[in-house]
Amino acid sequence: MTTPAELLARPLVLPCGQVLPNRLAKAALSEAMGTAAGAPSPALNTLFARWAAGGAGLVITGNVMVDRRQQGEPGNVVLEDERHLAAFQAWAAVKGQGRLWMQLNHPGRQAPRIVAPEPIAPSAVPLEPTSVFAPPRAMTEAEIDDVVLRFAEAARVAQLAGFDGVQIHGAHGYLVSQFLSPRTNLRTDAWGGTPAKRRRFALAVVEAVRAATGPRFALGIKLNSADFQRGGIEEEETLDLLAALEAAGVDLMEISGGTYERPVMMGAQRASTREREAYFLDFAERARTAVRTPLMLTGGFRTALGMGAALESGAVDVIGLGRPLAIEPDLPARLLNGAEGVERTRDVAQGWGRFGGFLEIAWHAQQLQRMGRGLDPDPDRAMWVAAAVSLLDNGFSLMSPRRGG
Ligand SMILES: Cc1cc2nc3c(=O)[nH]c(=O)nc-3n(C[C@H](O)[C@H](O)[C@H](O)COP(=O)(O)O)c2cc1C
Repeated sequence: MTTPAELLARPLVLPCGQVLPNRLAKAALSEAMGTAAGAPSPALNTLFARWAAGGAGLVITGNVMVDRRQQGEPGNVVLEDERHLAAFQAWAAVKGQGRLWMQLNHPGRQAPRIVAPEPIAPSAVPLEPTSVFAPPRAMTEAEIDDVVLRFAEAARVAQLAGFDGVQIHGAHGYLVSQFLSPRTNLRTDAWGGTPAKRRRFALAVVEAVRAATGPRFALGIKLNSADFQRGGIEEEETLDLLAALEAAGVDLMEISGGTYERPVMMGAQRASTREREAYFLDFAERARTAVRTPLMLTGGFRTALGMGAALESGAVDVIGLGRPLAIEPDLPARLLNGAEGVERTRDVAQGWGRFGGFLEIAWHAQQLQRMGRGLDPDPDRAMWVAAAVSLLDNGFSLMSPRRGG
């Protein structure tokens, strides 16, 4: 019988020819460690050195913004042009045996007022509470073309800096996912009105990035299986989207789910799902019937047995790990050596009610900050300490469950 460690240790060749040395990936975790000018800070290099040594076959950065006027949270790294190339080169140089990809994002309406006073979105559909998120303005067609080019330019510079690939953030209610969802895309022009037109933005971004980076550069996308909201994107439609993205030449599709109005990416809804660990495994099984492109599944993996079962089912090619790697950055190496699973990762936000999602992110983000300062994570950090630090850092205006990546 093949052991989970053996399954996890198998290399994976992506359609572009790039080889991932094993099946474990660090999923994007927003670090908020950019300088005031939006450049990567030395603290990011210190943090990524931990993950580089941690053994994952693929490390994906937290979301990097493609427009400094439209950021998802204070402290985001911004990549618009070559002005901070040296700092990006220093970041890209922090590599272990795995590949290093940059996640690119535009928040659309999901951007707090303090960093995006004039947000733009497919349609003028506000995000509550509007005291935190300014109501967005519908994008003009020229603005849509501009954002597509921004993704392409950011990818070109990421490649120039030495990153091995980029991942487009098409999940969790940010701009790409706002275009996909009938809840937030009410357009009646070429960019909305039918599923094919709502898909057009995601495809335009993928095609522009591919054209700017060439066929050998890895190109991934993170997608919601569904939004889990009335009127949001449904699984059926996502399957059609996957097929269209496959035709456009995507190398790796990461499956997640939810939005910051409905943050299911942070916690399983049903007991049966919790038992299977992976929150979106059922959808990955359906996705496998629709596409041959390698699939990465993120959300809930905690044991080697759960990861091994997902790989063995054939539905999943890469296991994504988020919160566990904020606490146990060396977990991939331990799993590859036969460890049974996480040791110190726990459900920190249980019992914190409507602030649970926000605190879950704040608590883990503070662990990243610790590693950026050269310290070890602190799994015993009390939640009330995380809440207090977060309020001092960000001010009460961000006390919303929706901040994060
Ligand atoms: C602190 C924090 C920051 C995150 N930032 C991002 C991000 O920048 N981009 C993204 O796609 N997902 C982001 N996520 C979601 C994770 O990538 C992942 O989908 C989620 O944590 C579920 O996986 P897990 O159960 O392994 O943690 C973030 C999650 C946390 C806790």
